[in-house]
Amino acid sequence: MGASESLTILNKFLQFPSISTQPEHKGDMLACAEWLKGCCEDWGLDAEVYPTEGHPVVVARYGNDLDKKTVLIYGHYDVQPPEPLEEWETPPFEPSEREGRIYARGSSDNKGQILAHLLGVAQALKEEGSLPVNVVFLIEGEEEIGSPSLEKFMEAHREILRCDVIVISDTEMVAPGVPTVTYGLRGITALEFKVTGPSHDLHSGSYGGAVMNPATAVARLIASLHDGEGRVAVPGFYEDVRPIQDWEKEAQAQIEGFEDDLKKTAGVDTLFGEKGFSPIEQIGARPTAEVNGMGGGYQGEGTKTVLPKSAFAKLTFRLVPDQDPEKILDLVEAHLRTHLPKGVALEVERGHSGKAFLGDPQTPYGQSAVRAMEKVFPHPAVFIRAGGSIPIVDSFQHIFGVDVLLLGLANSDCLAHAPNENFLIENFMQGIRLNQVLLREIGED
Ligand code: BES
Ligand code: MN
Repeated sequence: MGASESLTILNKFLQFPSISTQPEHKGDMLACAEWLKGCCEDWGLDAEVYPTEGHPVVVARYGNDLDKKTVLIYGHYDVQPPEPLEEWETPPFEPSEREGRIYARGSSDNKGQILAHLLGVAQALKEEGSLPVNVVFLIEGEEEIGSPSLEKFMEAHREILRCDVIVISDTEMVAPGVPTVTYGLRGITALEFKVTGPSHDLHSGSYGGAVMNPATAVARLIASLHDGEGRVAVPGFYEDVRPIQDWEKEAQAQIEGFEDDLKKTAGVDTLFGEKGFSPIEQIGARPTAEVNGMGGGYQGEGTKTVLPKSAFAKLTFRLVPDQDPEKILDLVEAHLRTHLPKGVALEVERGHSGKAFLGDPQTPYGQSAVRAMEKVFPHPAVFIRAGGSIPIVDSFQHIFGVDVLLLGLANSDCLAHAPNENFLIENFMQGIRLNQVLLREIGED
């Protein structure tokens, strides 16, 4: 398959507005899953679309030879919402090629990456007629909403998903051409809280000063989450945090220009994080409390003198080994209740969670992955813990008990989840090759 044919297929994949969180896209989700199944069949795989309580799962397989190892390759076809739309230079679901990149929602997270794996298999089958391993693709439609149906699906279909190793490309490369093995991911837990006060919105002149303002209460609660040095101030929050190991510090020292790249891709002049840790550590190996959104009161143009009857905030906590999401939510909820000002009430709603992941890059499978990456990207591999989360990876480790290899292909300035998300075409093409080489390395080992 030539480069232009591969890009044409990527273009089609990127045109589906497969936004898992928005109910109006349910039909697009199914259409995208069906399209994937059709492609897999064209390439010589057996493919099936399985319905779930949420969005469908696509499973495609090649081979069932008991003498060969089985590699499970995981990815997701759902994407984050594209909003704010006005900030896109070209529409999010009309892929556009500029300066060696494809711009579209999902281009790097995760359609481009999972397609590179699929095309790697297609290519190998075309060139060689067979593969040195059995391959099972597991491509879900709910990663961006915390994979609520996938664990149940895996329990119910253990047999077809049986594997010796799991490969995932849903992470980033630290710099172009630098093969990056991600051996850790942060966990996550989400919580939304609402503060309610008066029975209706109040005139801020007639009541302000004598009645607690719920918006002020929300601001006070948010401010109580951190101390002045960037540490999370929730008592017990760091209790179960596993310390960073010495070999990790050595591995971090091999990564050049991380801080400058971070500033550049974030568009900030100055970084701010937990005192006593480097930015690599703050992102990969330390837990955080983040405000993702807050609201309440008048949001329109001009002024309005009103004391809103309620206000809210949406929080997530990134977690590291060995923090337990439920325990963290208990601690946070207790902390919020302790700091709640008088005269208002607090409602807490818990959201999705997933534990952190920490693998060992030194296992034989890890070494096969490093060899494959270094063959395709001629540069010594770097080892990193990523700050993002793929909650199902922890379940993979527990349900299947096999190594999980995270071999990211996304460029570090890919703008995942943001307007103008993009994927370096070079990474896409190298990713196709990487998958071919990787399956060979695993098969021969
Ligand atoms: N691909 C990301 C995870 C990721 C991001 C890994 C950056 C490494 C570096 C994934 O698609 C994602 O965005 N996950 C969500 C999970 C959440 C919605 C449960 C995340 O991390 O916010
Ligand atoms: Mn994502």
